Amino acid sequence: MEKRAPTRSEALELLKEYNANPSLIRHALAVESVMAHFAVLMGEKETAKWAIIGLIHDVDYERYPESHCKKAREILAERDWPEEYIHAVESHGWGICTDVAPREGMEKVLYTIDELTGLITATALLRPSRSILDLTAQSVRKKWKQKGFAAGVNREIIEEGAKSLGMELDTIIAETIKGMQKVAEGIGLKGQVEADAGPV
Ligand SMILES: [Fe+2]
Ligand SMILES: [Fe+2]
Repeated sequence: MEKRAPTRSEALELLKEYNANPSLIRHALAVESVMAHFAVLMGEKETAKWAIIGLIHDVDYERYPESHCKKAREILAERDWPEEYIHAVESHGWGICTDVAPREGMEKVLYTIDELTGLITATALLRPSRSILDLTAQSVRKKWKQKGFAAGVNREIIEEGAKSLGMELDTIIAETIKGMQKVAEGIGLKGQVEADAGPV
């Protein structure tokens, strides 16, 4: 019998069971939204599936950084998640922590945009507005070239992913920004709230 697809609330609950770090939760929410955005962009009907895989992809990262992606398989299999979800989660670490290559569009998008959301977040936070709402792909491109900036973001992986998708890097950056803008508030990139002067 085919396994039941997990719901978003099950995925979020599981993510929070294993992760307490707010920046990891924000990253998961960013990737979730970008995955949903790309599903629509690419005319895919299974938007919810793409989004849930984005939301859960780093479920094991906080507790098991040494066995990232591998531990995720165990966690998800224990919960009886369908194999295609587990494979997709594993494949985002291709060449880094697994040898499971992304094999279809959804997996290739996840592989490509995962690191990119980090570079976009770092670029947005550097701006005086600390907002993603008016961030352009051009600003991200400028930071792309500065190898010392967000040095942990592996630009080669993003380039490799773009190539496998047959998409221009600039398009991928612009669409990833759009996906993140939809959850700007939830990922802490809506901009700086003016400091309240408080009672005088
Ligand atoms: Fe990861
Ligand atoms: Fe990630």
